[in-house]
Amino acid sequence: MSSFRPDKYVRLINVSSLQWKRAYAIDVPEVDSEHQTLFRLLHGLERGIAGGADDNQLQQKASELHKHLADHFIHEQRLMRTTGYPLYEWHRLRHASSRVNLRRLARHIARGDRASASAAIDMLGAWLKNHIRLADRMFAAYFRNYRRGQTALAS
Ligand SMILES: [Fe+2]
Repeated sequence: MSSFRPDKYVRLINVSSLQWKRAYAIDVPEVDSEHQTLFRLLHGLERGIAGGADDNQLQQKASELHKHLADHFIHEQRLMRTTGYPLYEWHRLRHASSRVNLRRLARHIARGDRASASAAIDMLGAWLKNHIRLADRMFAAYFRNYRRGQTALAS
């Protein structure tokens, strides 16, 4: 009998895809470090599910992720407001769109449905990567320019 387990193989691919990579950097250090934390928490949740963490531990990890994500959105949105970013409202709505997946994740974990929780984590990971690649990059370009302008004015 073959020892090849396609389900394990797929799981390994998914887990590694939840790790932060240099390609996700937007070159705003304080935001990049928060993104790294979010990837670490998503990866930790995925590992917790695959490695048999108990329901309480998963719930704790999920609420930690929820808190960091909420704080991160508040921080980014504050940077946008204080610098007069013209696409603030569009970006804020993109943030709000992640709540569907967060609620789904919390519900699956509360019910002990690990397969669905794992799928919700993958969806959140995909959401985060897409969000960073487009929306956060657009803001980062604006923000770096704004900062350069402020530095030039001060000198
Ligand atoms: Fe964002």
